Amino acid sequence: MTLPFDGAISTFFEHDAPDDIRKTLKRADKDEILSHSYPYSEELKKKRYEKDIEALQIELVKMQAWAKETGARIACIFEGRDAAGKGGTIKRFRENLNPRGARVVALGTPSDTEKTQWYFQRYIDHLPAGGEIVFYDRSWYNRGVVEHVFGFCTEAQREHFFAQVPEFERMLVDEGILLFKFWLNVGRAEQLRRFLKRETDPLKQWKLSRIDVEGLHRWEAYSAAIRETLARSHTPEAPWTVIRSDDKKRARLAAIRHVLNGIDYTGKSEKVVGTPDPEISGGPEIWDA
Ligand code: ADP
Ligand code: MLT
Repeated sequence: MTLPFDGAISTFFEHDAPDDIRKTLKRADKDEILSHSYPYSEELKKKRYEKDIEALQIELVKMQAWAKETGARIACIFEGRDAAGKGGTIKRFRENLNPRGARVVALGTPSDTEKTQWYFQRYIDHLPAGGEIVFYDRSWYNRGVVEHVFGFCTEAQREHFFAQVPEFERMLVDEGILLFKFWLNVGRAEQLRRFLKRETDPLKQWKLSRIDVEGLHRWEAYSAAIRETLARSHTPEAPWTVIRSDDKKRARLAAIRHVLNGIDYTGKSEKVVGTPDPEISGGPEIWDA
């Protein structure tokens, strides 16, 4: 089977990637963390991860039971560059939850009709009902970053978005929706490593898109758009949580801990939940390009 992007990632790696990125990737061991600014040099050990994630998933089950009982509504949005680990993190949140009541919303390119609607409209359709937890794999923040980087929206549309988004989110929170905003932060070498893997893994190839391939050349444009987006949409009511996701395991644990910490559900084990690792999870100040 020939894929539309066959070889595009490895061609980029061999010919177009910045030298330091190529060198880093070529000499790296399998478990080595590639970002220089990352606080750990190796991935979290599998045993430790499995023990922690299982205990945290039990807490998530309690949280879901509490939500069903009280009618609480929970919305978690996941943003980040391609291959930052949004889908994988959401998968670990949902793994042991009742899927009825823990939905994923991963909307595609807006249809012609949707393009004529209020920008937020199609996302609003999927907000949680009582007892539900909704995971947005990408969200209205497309307008702040990918739509801008690829010219899918005008400058005026983007400004309008930035003017509306704080108020929009304030309304959600005021309505009683428990809103969590995650920005997964992946380094350039790690992103490329994941893309290379996707290119050769038949189970992962579907994750590659034209946007990913062309995005390889637009790292800096993404960086500028992300920086601006974080700065303009980090509000007291709806703050961003930046999660360093070069190590997927630590990222998943930190994201789950953050949500569990933020909700006062029945039967919580404070000991299990703990607090997210402050080196891995923080505000926009820990984001780096
Ligand atoms: P994903 O990373 O979610 O698998 P892609 O990398 O292909 O998807 O695209 C990134 C985002 O850009 C998606 O949310 C997609 O809907 C959006 N997108 C792609 N093409 C367009 C377009 N023409 N107009 C607006 N948004 C688009
Ligand atoms: C991720 O891994 O961050 C996304 O869910 C998938 C992608 O980026 O293509």
